[in-house]
This record gives sequence, C-alpha cells and structure tokens, in this order.
Amino acid sequence: MTDGPEPQADEVIEAYRRAAEVGGRAPSVHNTQPWRWLATRTGLELRADRSRQLRVADPEGRLLTISCGAALHHALLALHAAGWVPQVVRMPDARSADALAQITVSGRQAATAQQRRLFDEIDVRHTDRRPTIGHKVPHDALELIRQAAVNHGAGLHRLAGPDLDDLAVAAARANEIGLNDADQRTEMDYWVGGTRPTRTGVPSDAVPQSPPQTDVPGRDFGRPGTLEPGHGHAHSAVYGLLFTPGDQPGDWLRAGEALSACWLKATDLGVAVLPLSSVVEVPVTRQILHRMLAGAGHPMLVLRFGLADPDQAPVPGTPRLPAERTTWPGQIPQP
Ligand SMILES: Cc1cc2nc3c(=O)[nH]c(=O)nc-3n(C[C@H](O)[C@H](O)[C@H](O)COP(=O)(O)O)c2cc1C
Repeated sequence: MTDGPEPQADEVIEAYRRAAEVGGRAPSVHNTQPWRWLATRTGLELRADRSRQLRVADPEGRLLTISCGAALHHALLALHAAGWVPQVVRMPDARSADALAQITVSGRQAATAQQRRLFDEIDVRHTDRRPTIGHKVPHDALELIRQAAVNHGAGLHRLAGPDLDDLAVAAARANEIGLNDADQRTEMDYWVGGTRPTRTGVPSDAVPQSPPQTDVPGRDFGRPGTLEPGHGHAHSAVYGLLFTPGDQPGDWLRAGEALSACWLKATDLGVAVLPLSSVVEVPVTRQILHRMLAGAGHPMLVLRFGLADPDQAPVPGTPRLPAERTTWPGQIPQP
C-alpha cells in the first residue's frame, strides 16, 4: 500500500540521485567503490565499474559484486528512509554481467522505525582493524546479526573449535600467497597506503602501525599504517562465514546486500565488524572455507565480530569519491 499523490518525475529523479549518493558510502574491497549509477525518470540503474576492479586479487569480480551489493542495500535503505517504496530487479540483463540492479519506486510509504535506525547507522559504520577487547559479543546480538544476513538471502556460519584453528592457518597462508605474488603486491600498493588524494583506496590512517594481536590474522597490507594499534589481544573476537546457496554473480550481489544489512545491524548493537577477504580470494584457502560449510553453501566473506575498546579514539573516516564521479543523470558515457 502506498500513501499520497502521484510523485512528480523531478522528485523521483532527485530521490534516485540521493539514493546513489548514499550507496556510495557503502563498504567496498580496498575502498575501490566499483559501482556506477544511472539515475533517470525510469529508474536507478546500478552497474559494475570494472575500471576499479582488483584484476589480480579478484579476477572473477566476486568481491567487486559483493561491494556493489552493499551499495545496493544502502541505496534501497535510503529510498525507504525517504518514504519511497522501491522495487528491484537484480541482474536485469542476461547479456550484461555489468548490469547489477534496476531500481524503481512504486509509490510512497513511511519508513519503519527499524529502517530509519539502520539508515542512521550508515554514517556511523566503519571498518575497525584494531583488536577487539574483553567480553565476547553476546549470543543474542550475534543471532540478530545472523538473522539480518538470512533475511537477505545469505547465511552466517559461526566458526569455532577446529574450524577456527583452520581459519587462522588459512588466513596466514592467504596473506603469504598474496605478499609473495609480485602482481598482487603492485595492485595492493596502488590501493593501500599514503594519503590517497584520489578519494579511493585505504588510507594509512585506517591501517594499524603494527599487526594487531589476534588469533586469526587480518589482511596483511604489506606496509604499516599510522593508526595506533591499540592494546590487548582479540581473543574474544567471534568469526562468522557469510555464505550463499550458489556462487554466481546474482549470489555475490545478495551476499553484498546481506553484508550491508548485518554490518549496519551490528553497528546498531555496538558490535565492531572486520571483513577478511584474502582467504576468499585465494582458491586453495577458499576451498578450506567451502569444506567448513559441509554443503550448506559457498563462502563469500569471513567476518570478525567484537566489541571495540571504548577508550580508543575513533578510526578516521575513509573518504569516498564525490557522487558526480559515480552517478550519471543521463546516458552512461562511453569510456
Ligand atoms: C567485499 C569486502 C572485502 C573487504 N575485505 C577486507 C579485508 O580483507 N581486510 C580489511 O582490513 N578490510 C576489508 N574490507 C573493508 C574495506 O577495506 C572498507 O570497507 C573500505 O576501506 C571503506 O572503509 P569503511 O568500511 O571504514 O567505510 C572489505 C570490504 C568489503 C566490502
């Protein structure tokens, strides 16, 4: 059911533009922001921008598509929060792997309190690579986070016992493989470190000065950052494996939507999230994760959940491209 008079075309285009702008605040692998939006009166189209794909680490585009799925979820939430009723067709063009979603609005309806709450978390959510502290995340909070993933067509499998030991070994192995590969090093050096005037990539001030003490190593960026690493050892962190029933681009997109949904839910519950994707990038370690799922699905991303140290300074925000670099109000320009 929708409320109010028929929306004006200009009003709808403005809503699409605003949704694209909010989509741009989504997390993405190495902050590549590999999306582009086309806002017209007939809808808002989300396309992959392959010029910002990690060609070496992510040749199939799995992480690119997961990142775009997170942007899609952010954009849909923005439309809901603004009182629109969005409809989505995912993977709308069978001939184009770059056409990821076509969004239209079918009318107006007030957002639910939950939608508004999650929308407010968009500006709070961030990646924290420092160790988590003290207590474990309560079971009830983890269950709500898992449910958010399930509601978006994915699953979240908790890794414990021997699986956790195997994850630690696999994560270390994936880091080693990445750092020993000259092409991967070059690609990572391009995207990570420095002050990053391009407004893409991971700036030094979001990367700890030294590797944090954790049972499962985070991604080794191959160079220290400037972020104070914090004290303690993240023994209390909990690890989950985000998975989908299939391993096709449509599944990757859903995984990204689920990632955004559970990360915003976690933020709302005061739980810090760190994605670990090198274990998924490297085929041999992805196989290890696949076996842990025992036929339940395909691994998309490992997520570390924990409680952040309340005495630590906040992580400086990671910049984003200006909206005009990722959104076009008319025809998509030819490269
Ligand atoms: C698909 C995906 C994979 C990611 N993989 C990693 C990772 O392996 N290690 C890491 O430290 N951050 C990882 N991140 C976090 C991004 O680097 C981060 O979202 C981006 O730099 C933007 O920063 P923000 O999340 O603080 O806004 C990943 C994010 C996404 C969406």
